[in-house]
Amino acid sequence: GATGTFIVGGNWKCNGTHDSVEVLVNGLNAGTIDANVEIVCAPPFVFLNQVLDTLDKSKFSIAAQNCWIGDGGAYTGEVCANMLTDLSIPWVILGHSERRSLCGETNDIVGTKVAYALSKGLKVIACVGESLEERESGTTMKVVEEQLAAIANVVDKTGWKDVVVAYEPVWAIGTGKVATPDQAQEVHAGIRAWFANSVGADVASSVRIQYGGSVNAGNCAELAGMEDIDGFLVGGASLKAEDFVTICNSAK
Ligand code: G3P
Repeated sequence: GATGTFIVGGNWKCNGTHDSVEVLVNGLNAGTIDANVEIVCAPPFVFLNQVLDTLDKSKFSIAAQNCWIGDGGAYTGEVCANMLTDLSIPWVILGHSERRSLCGETNDIVGTKVAYALSKGLKVIACVGESLEERESGTTMKVVEEQLAAIANVVDKTGWKDVVVAYEPVWAIGTGKVATPDQAQEVHAGIRAWFANSVGADVASSVRIQYGGSVNAGNCAELAGMEDIDGFLVGGASLKAEDFVTICNSAK
């Protein structure tokens, strides 16, 4: 990767117990991390306080995996952006494909969420990516561009400085079927070109684009060497401290 500080996210998804989180945090804290890598760990909401209290914040930052649009109030089951900033949580992941497909988050909802989270001072990892069907029908860039446009429509140009884009092809998530470095690079370059045409050359050259989807300790180095891969968003392998540390240290 070439743009900015390499940034690796660990999306723990809906996994863990109090005890397993303790083991994972201890393992992460014990890891030797390259100083020039930015790392963001995203535990489930219920473990945020535990992780805030125990994770070495000189090495790792913390993200939530979602947040609500409103300022708080009668939204049963939701967690609002203000609650995250109140805990000094700097990051939130938004628009993950699992939330899009399982929880009905449309492009417009994701755009609204990104704009709202930014307005509350959160930094955002915004996820985009095509399904297998979409890739096979040749619409990958169209799908990704529509996902990005829904964000760009409601986010001020200056807001992009606090956004990292995570390109996660749905067919590669949790499947063990990682995109090849060339497949990932092609879409990352396409995303950067879209930014140049639709947002601005300055944003195109500064926005960091993570790859996500079956990244592991064995395949990270080759992916990290691609020109437009500026980091990773890691699911399964982020639950194993040793593997995650290896991925974090794969920056080229
Ligand atoms: O957000 C990360 C993710 O969706 C990738 O998951 O398990 O394929 O690394 P995994």
